Amino acid sequence: MLNHPDYIRHVLVDKSEQYDKDAAIFRIARPVLRDGLIATADMDLWRRQRRMMAPYFTPRTVSNFARNMTDETVRMLERWEARADLDAPLDVTDEFGQLALRIVSRSLFSADVGRAAQAFERAFQTANTVLGKFFSFPFPPLSFPTPSRIRLRRAIDDMDGFISDFIKKRVTEEMPPDQEPDLLSLFLHAVDEDDGKGMDLEQLHHEVLNICVGAYETTTNTLAWAFYLLARHPEVERRLHAEVDRVLGDRTVPDFEDLSKLPYTRMIIDEVLRVYSPAYQLMRHTREEDVIDGHRIPAGTQVLVNSYLLHRHPDFWEDPERFDPERFSPDQIARRPKHAYVPFGSGPRVCLGKHFALTEICLALATIARRHRLVTPEGAPEVLPDALITLHPKGGVHLRLERRS
Ligand code: HEM
Repeated sequence: MLNHPDYIRHVLVDKSEQYDKDAAIFRIARPVLRDGLIATADMDLWRRQRRMMAPYFTPRTVSNFARNMTDETVRMLERWEARADLDAPLDVTDEFGQLALRIVSRSLFSADVGRAAQAFERAFQTANTVLGKFFSFPFPPLSFPTPSRIRLRRAIDDMDGFISDFIKKRVTEEMPPDQEPDLLSLFLHAVDEDDGKGMDLEQLHHEVLNICVGAYETTTNTLAWAFYLLARHPEVERRLHAEVDRVLGDRTVPDFEDLSKLPYTRMIIDEVLRVYSPAYQLMRHTREEDVIDGHRIPAGTQVLVNSYLLHRHPDFWEDPERFDPERFSPDQIARRPKHAYVPFGSGPRVCLGKHFALTEICLALATIARRHRLVTPEGAPEVLPDALITLHPKGGVHLRLERRS
């Protein structure tokens, strides 16, 4: 296990060709993710797929999806406001899960997923729990038909069904010419610059599923932890409100252009991703022998970066358990080694959806904070992180909605 920025840069950036994803966590996740971008250990396939998909995830191209993000957040707030029992706490983890899925589905398929989102969520939670338990205790083998493995198989079938319905529809019916192309149609028509060919339908299915899985729990948990921490740090919440109110003025909903004027909002998100990094374990497998700081790493070794620990390393983070967005002011960032903070990974396999995620989280946070507060219900217990394949709030985050005056 590596826990120093220099070693992490060595593995993820400088020698990334020597470290592939044939590592335990990806082997375990592969029944779900197959050979999609997140999990594939086939470097040639990964390079080709990443080349074809990366152009649709730049900060500029992601701006095309900003409206999906704010529209869906406003719809969520309207659903919250329309509840009969406004005072009852909301399970915000569940709410943000639906929000994240609705946003990614609209961006991928131009579709309103409605109830199908809940079925996908349930299937994902089943797979995450079964695989997370298997990760801590890998016995019996995944192919052995225990009741939980049968549940896992069904969950995978449900997630596949969710994706293939949209793909089938798009292959048989072209999009109306006046509609902005969604990610699915962009992937369908993407061709590799080397051989001029696109991806086959099976690979397309895997990539779309990887995008849904990559985009779903990570963003959900970041938003849930963000409001959990805001509810417990009123001074941070006050500064957030002041910034959002000042930048939006008479408007209630931010747009993409506002993001550069919301630096404190972004600092809050960066700090949430430090404290509760959703993808808290990065794993690699050495293809060839290597030496890190004088230690021999034989070929075939599993190398682990645990960002939960790295983001609390006392050499780089003062009083690391304290929630303090000021750590992400430009001068504090400049004083730290870049690889002391890797919530999105680093190097060639850095998160493809990083800009998508940051845009979505920032816009959702600002939209909610403009008019509402989420407050801790009286006597609510502390929420602990649960380390499954990703890190999520154990038992969910339950908060009460309050309209700002
Ligand atoms: C807060 C939200 C997110 C976090 C913290 C996060 C974190 C990460 C991390 C750490 C990796 C690298 C894993 C490794 O090196 O082993 C990764 C990869 C990836 N993520 Fe994200 N992610 C987030 C949101 C998203 C979103 C919204 C999407 C899609 C729209 C996405 C799609 C992907 C894909 C496809 C990869 C694989 C990239 C490759 O290997 O080329 N992620 N993510």
